[in-house]
Amino acid sequence: MEDRFITSTKNWTDAEIENSLRPTSLAEYVGQEKVKQSLEIYIKAAKSRHDALDHVLLYGPPGLGKTTLAHIIANELGSQFKVTSGPAIEHAADLAAILTNLGRNDVLFIDEIHRLNKSVEEILYPAMEDFALDFIVGKGPSAKNMRLKIQPFTLIGATTKAGMLTSPLRDRFGVICRLELYDTQELQIIIKRSAKILNIEIDEQASLDIAKRSRGTPRIANRLLKRVRDYAEVLGTGKITKDIADKALSKMEIDDLGLDFIDHKILESIIYKFGGGPVGLDTLSATISEDASTIEDVYEPYLLQLGFIARTPRGRVALESAYKHLGIAYPESNNIKS
Ligand SMILES: Nc1ncnc2c1ncn2[C@@H]1O[C@H](COP(=O)(O)OP(=O)(O)OP(=O)(O)O)[C@@H](O)[C@H]1O
Ligand SMILES: [Mg+2]
Repeated sequence: MEDRFITSTKNWTDAEIENSLRPTSLAEYVGQEKVKQSLEIYIKAAKSRHDALDHVLLYGPPGLGKTTLAHIIANELGSQFKVTSGPAIEHAADLAAILTNLGRNDVLFIDEIHRLNKSVEEILYPAMEDFALDFIVGKGPSAKNMRLKIQPFTLIGATTKAGMLTSPLRDRFGVICRLELYDTQELQIIIKRSAKILNIEIDEQASLDIAKRSRGTPRIANRLLKRVRDYAEVLGTGKITKDIADKALSKMEIDDLGLDFIDHKILESIIYKFGGGPVGLDTLSATISEDASTIEDVYEPYLLQLGFIARTPRGRVALESAYKHLGIAYPESNNIKS
């Protein structure tokens, strides 16, 4: 057999597959209509003025398409794209070096921007506001403030924790976009698109079933698609039918709303151990031995959206629909409480 056939069967890593599935233009990016509409206008306006686009902050739960959208913005602008992340920049001088090396109207993407340390963050303030770096030369009475101009650029920051951003940093973003969980229809479009790219045959109903269990998250939709494909290849002909999808998904211990073992643990713990709540995040985290920020960023957004839990000033409470979903009787007394 020819070599070129062998290379095409190479085992792709999940990261490579994730990259191959990233849409590259706004038109291909599914959902997030409000965000797309406003970005489209800002991008057009910046391009026609030959200006750098205002700084953009993208926030929302993991896997909703922040990194993807940052790439797309640079593509649509026709700008160079430079990537770094909050934890990767240790010293103020590292960031200063990155900033002075930017070309006119380049896009600098800082992932996990809430994790920049204070001294690094302070470099960003004049850079974002005036396209300048401020520093002090000399010591004692002869010390002087110096200002170095840099090229106009667009900073795109991404974070899952907008609440952890300091207000001076947040205030310097002209465009703030909150990404929302996707609805089933949008996820189905994403699944069909990914199936096409990965050369997977999939039934309409099967793509809908996978979409329903994807917790509003494209990354999960793509992951489930890949796992279900494995089942289809081993148990069937390779084509993903509704029957295969249902079998595979139930083997993965994902229920019909996409809730997994940990979601169940969170809900059952609030209900059984804390009488339905309220229970504080840290107490809950200790009880189920799961990292508090993972509960908050990864699990809660979907449970909140389903209306299964609510956040109150005194902690998390389980709502009636959660009891129903788990088949647990809702205590009459809760109705009186609320
Ligand atoms: N709107 C979308 N349309 C199609 N595919 C999408 C969309 N958003 C995300 N994806 C897919 O989901 C995957 C995850 O997206 P991405 O890496 O951009 O998420 P993220 O928000 O940056 O996550 P994290 O917070 O973990 O960094 C990508 O492979 C991408 O293909
Ligand atoms: Mg990302």
